[in-house]
Formats: sequence, C-alpha cells, structure tokens
Amino acid sequence: MAFISDRLARIKPSPTIAMSMRAAELAAEGRDIISLSAGEPDFDTPLNVRDAAKAAIDAGHTRYTAVDGTPSLKRAIADKFARENGLDYTPSQITVGTGGKQILFNALMATLDAGDEVIVPAPYWVSYPDMVLLAGGTPVVVECDQVAGFRLTPQALEAAITPRTKWLILNSPSNPTGAGYDRAQMAALCEVLLRHPQVWILADDIYEHLVFDGFEFCTPAEVEPRLKDRVLTMNGVSKSYAMTGWRIGYGAAPEALIRAMAKLQSQSTSNPCSVSQYAAEAALTGPQDYIRDSRAVFQRRRDLVVAGLNACAGLDCPVPQGAFYVYPSMAGLIGRTSAGGTRIDSDEAFANALLDEQGVAVVFGAAFGLSPHFRISYATANEVLEDAMARIRQFCAGCN
Ligand SMILES: Cc1ncc(COP(=O)(O)O)c(C=O)c1O
Repeated sequence: MAFISDRLARIKPSPTIAMSMRAAELAAEGRDIISLSAGEPDFDTPLNVRDAAKAAIDAGHTRYTAVDGTPSLKRAIADKFARENGLDYTPSQITVGTGGKQILFNALMATLDAGDEVIVPAPYWVSYPDMVLLAGGTPVVVECDQVAGFRLTPQALEAAITPRTKWLILNSPSNPTGAGYDRAQMAALCEVLLRHPQVWILADDIYEHLVFDGFEFCTPAEVEPRLKDRVLTMNGVSKSYAMTGWRIGYGAAPEALIRAMAKLQSQSTSNPCSVSQYAAEAALTGPQDYIRDSRAVFQRRRDLVVAGLNACAGLDCPVPQGAFYVYPSMAGLIGRTSAGGTRIDSDEAFANALLDEQGVAVVFGAAFGLSPHFRISYATANEVLEDAMARIRQFCAGCN
C-alpha cells in the first residue's frame, strides 16, 4: 500500500512555480538571470490598503472571523459587483477565500463526483486541470489555437458538451495568452450554454481590470442574465491591487453553492487571514486610481514586449487584450539548433535552452496545454524587459 494517495499521484507540481524556482537557483549560483515566469504585479500594494491593514492589527482584528468572510467585506464585494459589473448579488451569495485559487478549488471540490466533466479551454491556467483531477472530475481540454485568437468558439464548445459536463471554466482576459472575450463573443458562448442546463460556468475574472486599448471587459452572468443562476463569478484583489501575498479572492453564486463551499472551507482553512480581509475591503472601497495607473504602465510594457518579440527571427507574437502575459508562437524555430548546440524540437527545449544560454526564464507552452508557444509575464520593469528582448533576439538569431 503506497503511503502517498492516488489522488495526489494524479497531479503534478505547478510548472510555472518550477520554472521560477529554477531561475532563482541559477541566480543564487551567481548567473545573471532575468525571470519572466512569475504571474504577479511588480508594484507595491497601494498605500491606503497597507494603512488599513496596520490599523486593523492595532484595532485588534486579529482573531477568527466568519468562515467565508466578514459581513463588511462581503458587503464591499456586493457593492463592487453592482458598481463595476452591473451584477446584483446579496452578501449571502458571496464567499471569500484564501485567494481566488481557493474559491476555484472549493467550487470544484464541492460539486464534482467521479465521471463529472469540466471543459477547460487550452491554453489554460496551469491549475485548472489539476484542480479538477484532485476533485475527482475529468478535465475535457479543448484546444483554442492562435488562429482562433486563443478563444473558445461556440462550435467547439457545443462539440465538447456531454450529459456529464458540469462546468465550463472561462478565463477572460486569460492567463497565459492575455486574450479577452468581447461582448459579442461572450454572448455567442452564452447562447450555446442556454441550450445545456446541466452546465455551470466558472468565470475567472481575476484579470478584469488589466485590459488595454479601450477593450471592454464583460462577464457571463451580466452578458446573459438567464445564466446567472448557474454562474460562479470569481475574482480577487491579487492582480488588480498588487496584493498577491495577502491571499484574498472571492466568488458570487447562488446561495446553495456558496453554502456548500463555506462548509468545505470550514473544515479546511477556516477564514482567510483577518488582517488581509480588512486590507481587501480598503482596496475595494477606497480610491481606484491605482487600477488606472497600473493599467497604463502594463499597456506600455505590453507594446514593448510585443514589438520586441516580433522583431525576433522565428517568433510570432499576437497582441493581447489584457492581463500581463504574451503567448508567442515559436513554430518558426522548431527543427533548428541553438548557438549552444541544443536541437529545438519543442517549446520545452526552447525554454530550457533560452534559460541556459541567455539566462531568460519563460514558461513553455506545453505546460498550458498548447504548443509550440511560450509565455512571458511582462510584470517587470521596462529596462529589464528591454534587456530580456535583446537576449531573446540574440538567441533566436543564433538558431539555424
Ligand atoms: C487565471 C488565474 N486565476 C486565478 C489565479 C489565482 O490568484 P489568487 O489565488 O492569487 O487570487 C491566478 C493567479 O495566478 C490566475 O492567473
């Protein structure tokens, strides 16, 4: 009898974290490494949020809270949904967890039985399929290639749905591609979903505020109100307010699902960090200029990176609508040999050789379920990005 469970054997450690760790190890050995693999803003948490957290500590808000969030944070989240998304949720339809990650995990654990299917459009955020597997379900991966703008089409969705489909996971703007669904594209998917009442929609809106060129973010429950009673709208403060370490995410859904998720949380982590909840409340209710300012910075960086990559021989980088990632194709390098003598036969070989030869860490596309691509996170300073682009250009030029 194995000591480690079969459940754990089904999943793999996060490849993005593995790449970041490898880059950190090489840097610790004294190598000059640029890591473009981490998925977090490089800014400080806004001052009003930090102040609110300090005040919460001094006011003694350091004890257990209600399992899935303080009433005042839930109220602030309900107000956010009304203000920014035109969605009317009561606090009893809201749950708060330790990051958006726990909200997704709770939802899948609370609803999936063996044989239940979850449609995961690829390229996907690395955690989706493994969370589905941990929860005992079956991920149904649907490839959405560059020609389709990395978006799920209504036809592909229709073809993937079976009587066992329980969820569709939709992430817009997306990690790893930055692709966003506009209102018409979202409405077309909703049209299909209306025909299949057994399918719930998990809308991962964590990159909501990071949209560029006037792109208008939209979310399924608002685009198609007839679906609202089978949508879990998930969001969080990690990416919008540079609060990845504070670990606060939230979701809104029909009360029965919210109660089931809270039951699970009551037997796992209990409440998310009390101080972080006060900080998140300040983020949601305080001044919102941070969002506008960081969006402008990210848009400039996106332009720098897209132009830099498209100047590299063998790479093709589409312009994303949002998030802080690009997902270029490296199909033009497949079959070539790098200056250091590595045969580039996959995106994984490309990423490894790029790290070894030029000290730039990116994450290979196979980790996100769609090759031959790689993901760059441009949540880092312009000078660093410029240096990285020069190194990637040199690497590509050396491949023949
Ligand atoms: C698409 C997506 N969803 C959810 C999360 C979870 O974020 P957090 O748990 O920090 O709220 C991330 C973080 O990388 C993400 O990229």
